[in-house]
This record gives sequence, structure tokens and C-alpha cells, in this order.
Amino acid sequence: MPDWDKIFKEKGYVFVDPHQDISRLASLFRTQGVRRILDLGCGTGRHLAFLTQEGFEVSGFDSSSTALELAMKWLKEEELRADVHLGRMEEPFRYPDGFFDAVVSIQVIHHNMMNDIVATIREINRVLKIGGYIFITVPIYGPKPEKPEDDWNLHQLEAGTFIPQSGPESGIPHHYFTEEELHEVFRNFKILEMYTDDTNHQCVLAVREY
Ligand SMILES: C[S@@+](CC[C@H](N)C(=O)[O-])C[C@H]1O[C@@H](n2cnc3c(N)ncnc32)[C@H](O)[C@@H]1O
Repeated sequence: MPDWDKIFKEKGYVFVDPHQDISRLASLFRTQGVRRILDLGCGTGRHLAFLTQEGFEVSGFDSSSTALELAMKWLKEEELRADVHLGRMEEPFRYPDGFFDAVVSIQVIHHNMMNDIVATIREINRVLKIGGYIFITVPIYGPKPEKPEDDWNLHQLEAGTFIPQSGPESGIPHHYFTEEELHEVFRNFKILEMYTDDTNHQCVLAVREY
């Protein structure tokens, strides 16, 4: 079954430029005393490299060994250091409670069924200190949830979760969130911003309250 590892094997660095708002977030994090950041589903390392360059202590994990090889190559070439390892987001994270000041996860946590997404968010909450930040982006369930994947031949697995039968991400589950769901799954957080970015993903910037 095609998966992200296959995509990275075939296409290499699919994502190169960092998220449009990561620079603004780095400034915010700095003013708020953020030091340790987890990049959950770090892929080939565009945010690992950026945030490390900005002076943060960055950890990242991903389920694709090919992505991690590319990420480590990138870091080495730029003479940067980050703690990077293979891991699955629906399994317990290897970090202690309250270890991170911030968790970023760009276009990752929706690649699962809802019960696994809830497990991931529980772990995000656990490894983040109270008062810590999250910046998470996911696709949203809009009036045309199938856009721009009209040709993906989406097969529904559960409410809001689809698996493309064709196209580059075929076989990879996609959960399309509603705004209400985002408020529900991040109920432990004070949501500071929720908006749609240029890639049509919903961005959630929030602070852990409890
Ligand atoms: C759209 S890519 C985004 C990568 C990276 N966050 C970025 O912005 O460049 C989705 C990433 O999620 C990772 N991923 C998918 N399912 C995962 C899982 N169950 N556990 C950990 N990582 C996963 C993929 O390997 C891939 O690197």
C-alpha cells in the first residue's frame, strides 16, 4: 500500500519552504521563553532546520525512515543539530511529561482514524508543559471537502475520515476536521488563533491550560 515513505522515496524533499507563519511563530515563541520544541511528523525536516537555525532545541519524529534520512542529511549539510527519531504518533511518545515548551505539527495528525488522533492529542498534551504552545495544521471539512482532491476517489471510513483510492496519497487516511471538532479535541487548550492558511489547511495556535 502506498504510504508517505514511498512518496518520499520517489519524490525526495516534497516540502522545502517552511510554513508561511513559522517565522512569526518563532518570534512569538522567543518572546514567550520557549526553548524546547517538538516537531511532530517532522517529515524531511523543513521545520527542524528552520527552528534549529532560530536557536531552539528541537526534537522531531516521523514514521517514515526515508523522510528521516533526508531530514538528517539536511541538518548535517547545514551543520545543525536536532534530536530526530523514528516513531508513530498514535503510540506513546518517548518524552517525559511536560518536556516541551511548544509542539508544532504541520499537516500530520489528520493521517489517522479519529480514535488514533485522540491518542496523539493526549500525548501532545502530556509532553507539553502547562502554558506551552501548540501550532497544528489540518485539512478542514468545508463545503467542498473533496477539493482539491477531486480525482482522489475518496472512500469514507468513518465520519470525516476518508481514504483516497487514487492519486499520490492513495491508501493514506485523511481526517477532515470541522471547527467544532477542533474545539472539542483541543478543549484543554486556550485557542489563540484559528485560521486557514494558503494551502487550505486550518491552523490552530493554542496554549495548554490544563
Ligand atoms: C504532509 S507530510 C508533512 C511533513 C512535515 N510536517 C512538513 O510540514 O514538511 C505528513 C507527514 O506525516 C508523517 N506521518 C504520517 N503518519 C504518521 C504516523 N502514524 N506517525 C508519525 N508520522 C506520520 C508522514 O511520514 C509525513 O512525513
